[in-house]
Amino acid sequence: MYPITRATSKQLLPVYDKPLIYYSLSVLLEAGIRDILVISKPEHLGSFQELLGDGSQLGINIVYRPQPTRGGIAEAFVIGRDFIGDDDVALVLGDNVFHGSGFGDKLKTAQKNAADGQATIFGYRVDDPQHFGVVEFDDDGNAVSLEEKPLEPRSNYVVTGLYFYPSDVCDYASRLQPSTRGELEITDLNRMYLDDKRLKVQQLGRGFAWFDTGTIDRLFSVGEYIRSVQEATGVKVAALEEIAYDAGWIRRAQLLKLADGLKKTEYGHYLEKIALSTRR
Ligand code: G1P
Repeated sequence: MYPITRATSKQLLPVYDKPLIYYSLSVLLEAGIRDILVISKPEHLGSFQELLGDGSQLGINIVYRPQPTRGGIAEAFVIGRDFIGDDDVALVLGDNVFHGSGFGDKLKTAQKNAADGQATIFGYRVDDPQHFGVVEFDDDGNAVSLEEKPLEPRSNYVVTGLYFYPSDVCDYASRLQPSTRGELEITDLNRMYLDDKRLKVQQLGRGFAWFDTGTIDRLFSVGEYIRSVQEATGVKVAALEEIAYDAGWIRRAQLLKLADGLKKTEYGHYLEKIALSTRR
């Protein structure tokens, strides 16, 4: 991503009209999750805080913790151990974008699985699986293997950057050993659940859009996608204030106050329109 990420974090770059991290956060909010820990490199943490604050403006709670070194995605469950406590937990990568109908039901199923002691990952079919975590299935659709960026992928199904775990995930993570690249790998964590027959895979099927913004071309494509969807539907994807309002976490007066602060902007007009519509 250099040089656009020289002075900022990738997750703060624009995807059409919003910072990339809005799209990941919207997934958590859609799942009804209101206690959120943001983990980033220490030097970028202040920018995330400036962008999102403590979450009270959205009726949620956001706290921040640094990841001092490149310790891997699964290190989130070491850094976040106190934050998570005895709760079930979801992890979403700040650079993944999910969009499609029926997603809410899939999120509910994943939460129910976690309450039943099962982890959930989400599979998506791609043409270039070697760049991702890859999941292989048997004839009955059960996951049989998980590999991180294999040179010879055993399937075209990759593991997206959204994971739901039961409350023992921090214990599992504490048993992980760093990989050859020195990181605690999310795929190794998921494999522990697979080996213990506690892993469910939900497919994000045809018609569902998933983007990992690992390259500048994919970042650009997702911006184009969001622009066309919003233009065609008149509805914004990942407008966090709108999600919080629809969920009943903020009232009309608060949404109007947020809109008022953004008065001269298109985003502010959109929020005002939502607040003044009669749907709630
Ligand atoms: C990470 C995970 C990989 C997953 C991908 C999804 O890879 O390690 O298993 O498929 O996210 O975005 P990264 O993009 O950090 O290389």
